[in-house]
Amino acid sequence: MASCNAQELLDRYDRKALPSFDVGGGNVDFLEAAFEAAEKSGRGMYLSSTPSTVQSYLGFEGYVSAIQMVAKRHPGVDYAIHLDHSKELKFVEEALQAGFRSVMYDGSHLSFEENVENTKKALAWAKAKGATLECELGTISGKEDEIEEEGEKLPTFEEISRFVSETAATLTAPAIGTVHGHFKGEPRLNWAVVDQMKDLNGNFVLHGCTGLDPQILTEFARRGWVKFNFATALRDEFRQGLVEHLEKHPKDLKPFTYLKAGRSRLSSYMSEIFGHLDPKE
Ligand code: 13P
Repeated sequence: MASCNAQELLDRYDRKALPSFDVGGGNVDFLEAAFEAAEKSGRGMYLSSTPSTVQSYLGFEGYVSAIQMVAKRHPGVDYAIHLDHSKELKFVEEALQAGFRSVMYDGSHLSFEENVENTKKALAWAKAKGATLECELGTISGKEDEIEEEGEKLPTFEEISRFVSETAATLTAPAIGTVHGHFKGEPRLNWAVVDQMKDLNGNFVLHGCTGLDPQILTEFARRGWVKFNFATALRDEFRQGLVEHLEKHPKDLKPFTYLKAGRSRLSSYMSEIFGHLDPKE
């Protein structure tokens, strides 16, 4: 199957927890690292980037081509080309036009009603292209690329339940206390709402996975959450691999050796993530 939308990944992997790796707008080393880790785990994944990163690196079509190029080297791996946190409908349209199979419209900054209205619009466009939609309710605080939220607005169980049934999107990301970027202090998760959500008929996405204990990731996977978003921790790992290599080999001028050092550390970390998301392991 290889290139999938979110529904295809859900069906193919029995609604098991899958990671969503931020690949920095289509960076080849991030992509190779992700495909290598997915190949070893035997599971699928989402390859994600925000509109601003896509625009400032390869553009929407370039992003799709970069993923397809690396995917050819790993023919057995299922992946979704995913757009993260599009706060504007025009980027959803642009991504779908370029061949993204999974898109996120993030109307969490709007009123509940406006968010639902725009989400439904984005969902219709996605469906027409054979793609699937992720939507968001409540604000996930912290900073990542162009997404910066100071306060935290956590939705109630009733709001989440209404949002899931009114939008009918494939994936829903409710804010439950995780943050984008590094946590300042201990994460305070809204377990009461997470508990209530167990009987809801939705596919839930956990944003802000950087800094969460592996046991917490496993616990969410056990509760049936399906997509787990990682960005900052991946950037940390890649950079650390690169820095350590260059400290040891300060005269190394070959990009393919020093970049591969970053890639290799990142890929091992991604393999660990696949492990944490599998409650059996
Ligand atoms: P982190 O940067 O905390 O890993 O969050 C990633 C994310 O949620 C992307 O949508």
